[in-house]
Amino acid sequence: MTEDGPATADMTVCGLGYVGMALARDATAAGLTVLGYDVNADLVAALRADHSHVDDVFNEDLAAMNATGFTATADPAVLGRSPVVVICVPTPLGDDGGPDLGAVLRATAETGARMRPGALVVLESTSFPGTTEEVVGPILERESGLAAGTGFHLAFSPERIDPGNKVYTMAKTPKVVGGLTPACADRAVEFYGRFTDEVVRARGTREAEMAKLLENTYRHVNLGLINEVAMLCHRMGIDVWDVIECARTKPFGFQAFQPGPGVGGHCIPVDPLYLAHKARAVGFASRMIDAAERVNSAMPGYVVERCAALLRSRGREPAGTSVLLLGVTYKADVADLRMTPAEEVARRLRGHGAAVSYHDPYVDAWTVDGEPVPSHGDLRSALRSADLTVLLQKHSRYRPETLVSEAHLVFDARGLLADHPDRHVAVL
Ligand SMILES: NC(=O)c1ccc[n+]([C@@H]2O[C@H](COP(=O)([O-])OP(=O)(O)OC[C@H]3O[C@@H](n4cnc5c(N)ncnc54)[C@H](O)[C@@H]3O)[C@@H](O)[C@H]2O)c1
Repeated sequence: MTEDGPATADMTVCGLGYVGMALARDATAAGLTVLGYDVNADLVAALRADHSHVDDVFNEDLAAMNATGFTATADPAVLGRSPVVVICVPTPLGDDGGPDLGAVLRATAETGARMRPGALVVLESTSFPGTTEEVVGPILERESGLAAGTGFHLAFSPERIDPGNKVYTMAKTPKVVGGLTPACADRAVEFYGRFTDEVVRARGTREAEMAKLLENTYRHVNLGLINEVAMLCHRMGIDVWDVIECARTKPFGFQAFQPGPGVGGHCIPVDPLYLAHKARAVGFASRMIDAAERVNSAMPGYVVERCAALLRSRGREPAGTSVLLLGVTYKADVADLRMTPAEEVARRLRGHGAAVSYHDPYVDAWTVDGEPVPSHGDLRSALRSADLTVLLQKHSRYRPETLVSEAHLVFDARGLLADHPDRHVAVL
């Protein structure tokens, strides 16, 4: 045993974020010894002190992990200390709006330089089809001097974490696995079967990569559709929320999506663009994805224009108006602010000259474009003090009765008040 954990372990997780920590937790709970590597030394120190930065991994979970088989470290040597390395590093968009595989390239090179002959390397980071075979495999081969498929095993397995979902935890969500060769797939299926209820074998790495992008692009496109239908319904004087309630009674062939102020989080705004990028690279026009992207990215602006129109209908201009944003995270009842559309809403309201503040039980401090947004601790006094309240997130503690009784004027971008008609309320 060293300061950086046991000399050997069952697996090493590379990248200790939302995905890596959930994986490490479930593997540790199943009795595996897990080494965790992250380039962020401050993060590693916090993890070692039982402070979790991930919503779904509570400090108690982390304490239990640290007390049993988990060791976090910033020393890349641990990438060579176990027979299985799972890469869970970020795959964001670059400045040009295309894939930024920088973290994957670095993590892969670090792994290749240290991994043992016969190791299994699994990529869990979401990326375009071909990443495992065309990008990760050759780097591992170059750095290790071993051949993919024979000298080491290589697989892709997409992560399906749904932050805040208590029913479909990682262990209870089927895990798709695609191997470079049938032997690679056998090894990866056996590995995930040790802590996942159901493992689904894809034909290969590309099918597994594409399955992940299909899942998220399906949501992106359907959100684009329902957002467009919501805007059309408003133009036509039709209650879109009632339309959705009616349509969802069809017991087959329809899945209800909810319109909103725009898409956020780590997956929906990013993954379809990885797919669109790859489509362009092979000379294919991904028209559905591009159209959904245009609609979804226009939603914050649409919400702000509706707010401005609401204010003007009451004889006020947005400039100088105090606007309270209610719920600024990208998803209800989670603390995650990543790519939240609330940011663009705040930016545009400020652009109109409004004085923007927020209330969110999950967010202590929030900054937009380097400028802090003032926050309110008490909901009722916040509602009473604002000229306009904009409901951006349906956190469960926001009760319709409170909003209707306390706020002067409300724009509801989530349909919480769709069944509470009031002359002070407008709904998306
Ligand atoms: N968060 C989700 O809900 C979710 C769901 C499904 C898939 N994914 C995908 O999983 C991948 C990881 O996402 P995440 O949400 O866990 O990201 P994250 O940003 O929460 O965590 C990534 C971690 O990797 C670390 N890191 C960066 N470069 C590294 C390197 N070279 N070596 C070691 N560590 C490094 C970072 O310091 C960070 O702690 C992404 O591809 C993402 O698209 C995320």
